[in-house]
Amino acid sequence: MSETSKTSEQIYARCERLVELLDSWASLIITSDSISSKIFLSRAIHFIVQAISTYKRRLHELGIEIDIQLIRDSMRARLVAQGQEARSIPVLLRRFDEAAELVNAPLERSSDTIFQIMDEPTTIANDAVKKLLSAIDHKTFAESLQSTDECGAFSSADWIWIQIPAVPGRPDDVQFGSVRTQTIFDTDHHEMAAGFHRMLMGVEIPTIEACALNIVLEDEMPFRFVEDMARQSWDESRHAAGFLQLLRRLNFDVKDFPASNDLWEMTSTKALPLRLAIHQRAGETMGINAADWWSKHYRQSGDDMMADFQEFVFEDEIQHVEFGNKWLRYICDARKIEISSVINQALKIRTAKSGVTVSGRIRYPQNDNAMKRAGYTDVEISELKHPR
Ligand SMILES: [Fe+2]
Ligand SMILES: [Fe+2]
Repeated sequence: MSETSKTSEQIYARCERLVELLDSWASLIITSDSISSKIFLSRAIHFIVQAISTYKRRLHELGIEIDIQLIRDSMRARLVAQGQEARSIPVLLRRFDEAAELVNAPLERSSDTIFQIMDEPTTIANDAVKKLLSAIDHKTFAESLQSTDECGAFSSADWIWIQIPAVPGRPDDVQFGSVRTQTIFDTDHHEMAAGFHRMLMGVEIPTIEACALNIVLEDEMPFRFVEDMARQSWDESRHAAGFLQLLRRLNFDVKDFPASNDLWEMTSTKALPLRLAIHQRAGETMGINAADWWSKHYRQSGDDMMADFQEFVFEDEIQHVEFGNKWLRYICDARKIEISSVINQALKIRTAKSGVTVSGRIRYPQNDNAMKRAGYTDVEISELKHPR
């Protein structure tokens, strides 16, 4: 066997092992009833997808095109055949450990040192993958899965691609209801904490789950779509972790305010173009304008920490809307769907469910420059400003 074939075969085998993790992790993000495990996994899944893409790129350089979505199909068939056992926490952990072990094993090569130089790009690619995997800490991963197991949600959940749950997993002690109509507020920080909680449980966590659903369900889409959804998932996991910390700094926690399932109810049973229009386009656009308004508001009132926090959120949200616009146009083009009808339908559903703003109270001003960066056309930007 030639040296290039030998190296390609090894990379392919490593890539396959990582692809195997993708669907079980994405479905666990939805069904897990532990907020910390959702946050952990939605960060980890981005690193796995980046690792897969790194191998895919190196194989492309070696003249081999691989279809990750096809590999996922065969991996799923294997998981389904293994049944309940494949869903157990020890098996999930073992799979990750085995994949990490394989990635960390030295590449087998001819002993002639000239091949160290000739195949240096593979060494560099594999080192990058090692680094990505080392960011997924085994201990935290095990703890995060353990908390899920104790709550029992994952062990009873069906594989997501067989059945989408009516509601995503939530901790047992979470109450549901409208945050806006609750009786408030008995401490100084109560209102601020309610706002952080609404962002955590009403926006960031549901968005993490929406991204996971897009990864699990949409295997007809190009792998670039999975890359974008995993990237968004990572961003939202950082937003969620940030809001959770802010909430806890005020001595409140997840169970202290009602959570809403509005986003899941609005989107989970809809077709992908409508989901993207409701969530990534309409919803995240509100997110851009809200983060922009809040960062300026905090800056003016001298709270630089919160202003800086909101600025990071603002920049991330622009990219999420850009993903939404890009993929919405892609699907509408490919499936010959009238994009404006999808957008109008999305706005109707969104307005009926949650009004025109994120908080229901403030209508945030539009930042045209951000809209442009987020992939809106000039015509769309002026239509957003003056809705018919
Ligand atoms: Fe976010
Ligand atoms: Fe977002």
